Amino acid sequence: MFQLSSEGKQQVLNELKRYESKQSAVLPALYIGQRENKGFITPAVIQELSRVMEIPESQINEVFTFYTMYNKKNVGKYHVQVCRTLSCMLNGAEELVGHLCEQLNTRVDQMTTDGRFTISEVECLGSCGTAPMMQIGDKYFENLTPESAMNLLRTMK
Ligand code: FES
Repeated sequence: MFQLSSEGKQQVLNELKRYESKQSAVLPALYIGQRENKGFITPAVIQELSRVMEIPESQINEVFTFYTMYNKKNVGKYHVQVCRTLSCMLNGAEELVGHLCEQLNTRVDQMTTDGRFTISEVECLGSCGTAPMMQIGDKYFENLTPESAMNLLRTMK
């Protein structure tokens, strides 16, 4: 069973006040739930949000399954999201992901054994002119090569 902290609950209620429709508050509410549940969303998080927001779970699930920025399982300290859409794909995204996984001895969406990294593939992040690129937290890293991407990860402790 998952319960929002009193601070998290208050933040969700504040989001509800900001919008005319409750549905619009689902995106930020999911972020709050994800943050409070160690970085990923479970059915219990959806249930809790549904209870606090007083909207059906199905409405929250719709949003959750549509967007890729919510995690379905536990991720490493650094969640490395590599774009795999057209420009990035044509400019070597696949090789980049392959290199990172090989160097870190992991697979896509599987957390490294030291808990530091999860490499994921995501849809276009809107930075197609500087492909290939990846996002870690709220930062974009662009014009990557497999080696430069790995060098970046080596600097992250
Ligand atoms: S195709 Fe990769 S950022 Fe748009």
